[in-house]
Amino acid sequence: MTKKVLGPKTHLCPMPVVLVGANVDERPNYLTVAFCGTVNFKPVIVAVGLGKTHHTNKGVRENGTFSINIPSAKMVVSSDYCGIHSGSKTDKSTIYGTFYGKLNTAPMIKECPLNFECKLLQTIDFPVDEMFIGEVVESYADQKYLTNGVPDAKKIHPILLTMPDNNYWSIGEPLGKAWEIGKKFRK
Ligand SMILES: Cc1cc2nc3c(=O)[nH]c(=O)nc-3n(C[C@H](O)[C@H](O)[C@H](O)COP(=O)(O)O)c2cc1C
Repeated sequence: MTKKVLGPKTHLCPMPVVLVGANVDERPNYLTVAFCGTVNFKPVIVAVGLGKTHHTNKGVRENGTFSINIPSAKMVVSSDYCGIHSGSKTDKSTIYGTFYGKLNTAPMIKECPLNFECKLLQTIDFPVDEMFIGEVVESYADQKYLTNGVPDAKKIHPILLTMPDNNYWSIGEPLGKAWEIGKKFRK
C-alpha cells in the first residue's frame, strides 16, 4: 500500500459542529466552531480553538466563562450563519433564545438540544488561535432529546463537518456498542 502524503492539514474527519457562546459587552454572542473536544474525564474539561480576532474571544476573556451548544441538523443554516458573520459587525444576540445557568455569564442556546456551561481554566496562545480550556460545571438537555435520561444522538441529530470539501453531514446508523464489540475480535 502506498500512502499519498497530504501535508499537515485540518483533515480530522469528521469534526463536530458546535456553537460557542460568550457574553460580549453584556450581550450574548455565538460563533460556529469545529475545533472542539473533551480533554479530561473527571472533572469534565473541554477545549475549543478560537481565532484570536473573533468577537466571542473578548467575552470569554472578560467573563472567564463560555458555553458549548450542540445544534441539531435542522439548525444547519443558522449555525452556518454564525460562522460567516462576526458579532463585531452583526448582532447575533437575537438569532436564538438565550438562557443562563449557574455561572450567570455563559449564554446558552435554548433551541440547541444539548448545552455545556463552562468555567475558563486556562488559555493557551497559539499562532492563529487561542485555546480556551474550560471545566464543564453543568450540562443541560431538553427532555425530548433523552432516552432513559441520557442524550440520544439519534434524537439530537448533531451536525458534522468535513474539510477541505467543507460539507456538513448528519450521523448514520450505530455500528455497535463501544467497549464491547472489540471483545469479539480474533487475530
Ligand atoms: C463550519 C464552521 C466551522 C468553524 N470552526 C471554527 C473554529 O473551530 N474555530 C474558529 O476560531 N473559527 C471557526 N469558524 C469561523 C467562525 O465561526 C467565524 O469566523 C465567526 O464569524 C466568528 O464570529 P465572532 O467574531 O462573532 O466570534 C468556523 C466557521 C464555520 C462556518
